[in-house]
Amino acid sequence: MSQIITRAVRGNFFDIREPVLRPEDLDAHVRYIEDGLMLLSGGHILWLGSWLDGERVLAQSARSDALQIDDFRDKLIVPGFIDTHIHYPQTEMIGAYGEQLLEWLASYTFPTEQQYHCEKHSARMSRFFIDQLLTNGTTTALVFGTVHPQSVDALFSVASDINMRLIAGKVMMDQNAPAALLETPEQSERDTRALIGRWHNRQRLSYALTPRFAPTSSAALLEKVRLLKQEFPDLYLHTHLSENADEISWVKALYPDHEHYLDVYHQHGLTGQRCVFAHCLHLEEREWDCLHDTDSSIAFCPTSNLFLGSGLFNIQKSWEKKIRVGMGTDVGAGTTFNMLETLSEAYKVGQLQRYRLSAFEAFYHATLGGARALHLDDKIGNFASGKEADFVVLEPGVSALQKLRAGNSKTLAEKLFVLMTLGDDRNVFSTFVDGEPVYQRDAQEVA
Ligand code: GUN
Ligand code: ZN
Repeated sequence: MSQIITRAVRGNFFDIREPVLRPEDLDAHVRYIEDGLMLLSGGHILWLGSWLDGERVLAQSARSDALQIDDFRDKLIVPGFIDTHIHYPQTEMIGAYGEQLLEWLASYTFPTEQQYHCEKHSARMSRFFIDQLLTNGTTTALVFGTVHPQSVDALFSVASDINMRLIAGKVMMDQNAPAALLETPEQSERDTRALIGRWHNRQRLSYALTPRFAPTSSAALLEKVRLLKQEFPDLYLHTHLSENADEISWVKALYPDHEHYLDVYHQHGLTGQRCVFAHCLHLEEREWDCLHDTDSSIAFCPTSNLFLGSGLFNIQKSWEKKIRVGMGTDVGAGTTFNMLETLSEAYKVGQLQRYRLSAFEAFYHATLGGARALHLDDKIGNFASGKEADFVVLEPGVSALQKLRAGNSKTLAEKLFVLMTLGDDRNVFSTFVDGEPVYQRDAQEVA
């Protein structure tokens, strides 16, 4: 091996080797290495195999003098979780009582987001937010800021300090929200363009054009978004689609000439690869087809959909239509940053529709499937050689109940299912970003 090995990680490894088009194909691509060794060179994975083979590879390779061997022999190491839809400026209003989407936005969200005009607040909450992601084993996220460009500067700046792979954008909105959160289409374009210049493709950061949703976007604003997407084709487009019945009626009233909700985005050139639509709960057949035909992606956000009473995502249909799907926590409508808890709720969403979400499928959506939804599966999502070294070390049994239940689980599928059903942030032992530990549970001070 010609590259210098800088870190060796010993433990039990689970990942999925290849993206799949049918959940039935997952079993054939599952990789589980009991007592394995993963060799890193800086921020990249060089090699993964059994401990015995690894010792030989290590002995024959160039290694740095300061080679670290991390021993996680009793732990489960999985690729870092990927959160394909989350709002960082809603962290402090998570768990807001009593309302469904539109009233929830007006009563809680818009007042909270107004605080992000303040750079200090944005900086403090950005640090808190990134800490929450890492504490929960999430190493990549697609993130909403607020309308204020300083909110996104603050977030990217914190992510850049640890060379995290993060995608974010400032919200664009010019109608149907409090005046303090509105901008003109021209200002929105200027601020967005400046942010793209400052952050897009710098280190592992990417920019997402982020019109909030159709009701807060005039046709003139969407036209600005279209022009930006045309000028910078590798940008992401991140928005909401078909979440709530009242929202959908509102879109139909605001945009009567469009065939359906998605058509508002589609006619403005805002569908296609790297376009990520959160929710997609009440889609018409034509909308499913449009998502398929344009190769757009969906962020499935179960805790949010249940918390706001929005509806049930049709997982089965998303496979039938061959659409790229990732998991989203959608904090602060979502009720947790934790991907294990999110997968547990996804399973229950499936149950309510007689869809059996296997643990392999659940972990796929949270890792390689999420990477595929973000067109990053050549860089992250599993432990293939050459990929970026973002991973999470899980401790499967941290409570008496978890130990009892883990102890009587037989297969790998059962162990993973129990972990996602009973697990939470206590199970995250350590998180690595870019080949370096960025969170260690037991080193954390209790506040
Ligand atoms: N639709 C428009 N804005 C929002 C938001 O902030 N959260 C959710 N869940 N849906 C939205
Ligand atoms: Zn959202």
